[in-house]
Amino acid sequence: MKKIVVVFVLAAFAGSALAADVMQFKRGVKFNHKIHQDTVKDCTKCHAKAEGGKIEGFGKEYAHKSCKGCHAEFKKGPSICKDCHKQS
Ligand code: HEC
Ligand code: HEC
Ligand code: HEC
Repeated sequence: MKKIVVVFVLAAFAGSALAADVMQFKRGVKFNHKIHQDTVKDCTKCHAKAEGGKIEGFGKEYAHKSCKGCHAEFKKGPSICKDCHKQS
């Protein structure tokens, strides 16, 4: 029984390559990395490399271009300030 649990946990970590499932950015932006991995699938839509990692120059400019741009493209995900920024 215990062994099965361990295998499950390891599989979950391998899939997410050690990135947190939910990340907290400035001004109350919650980013669910896991949902994005599952729906977008192609890591290189957001990362320079398929294995992911820190995004160089991540901040307001990158975020607004990338996050809002892709939501418009998919016609899914928030595009209004307060839907991303839960605090000011
Ligand atoms: C919709 C965009 C998006 C997609 C798709 C995506 N990521 Fe990420 N990922 C991010 C963002 C944003 C960060 C945070 C970057 C930062 O803080 O510099 C991140 C961070 C990471 C990190 C580093 C975590 C840390 O704190 O060092 C890893 C590893 C990672 N992603 C792997 C992946 C892998 C593997 C995939 C594909 C299965 C993937 N990501 C898909 C946006 C995405
Ligand atoms: C490459 C495309 C892509 C990028 C880049 C992207 N998103 Fe999304 N996002 C999506 C899609 C597709 C959905 C809809 C997921 C669903 O409803 O199944 C979504 C949904 C969301 C949601 C609502 C679901 C949830 O997580 O509660 C939030 C909030 C969100 N995105 C925030 C962000 C932020 C913040 C960024 C930039 C750091 C970002 N997204 C970048 C494609 C993207
Ligand atoms: C799709 C989600 C999303 C939408 C919509 C969005 N933002 Fe952002 N915004 C972000 C993310 C992600 C960051 C980067 C936060 C970080 O660097 O940790 C950011 C950063 C910022 C910052 C800089 C915060 C700082 O302290 O560096 C300001 C100001 C800002 N946004 C204002 C706005 C305004 C005003 C709107 C509406 C016109 C808006 N945002 C719409 C996701 C979004």
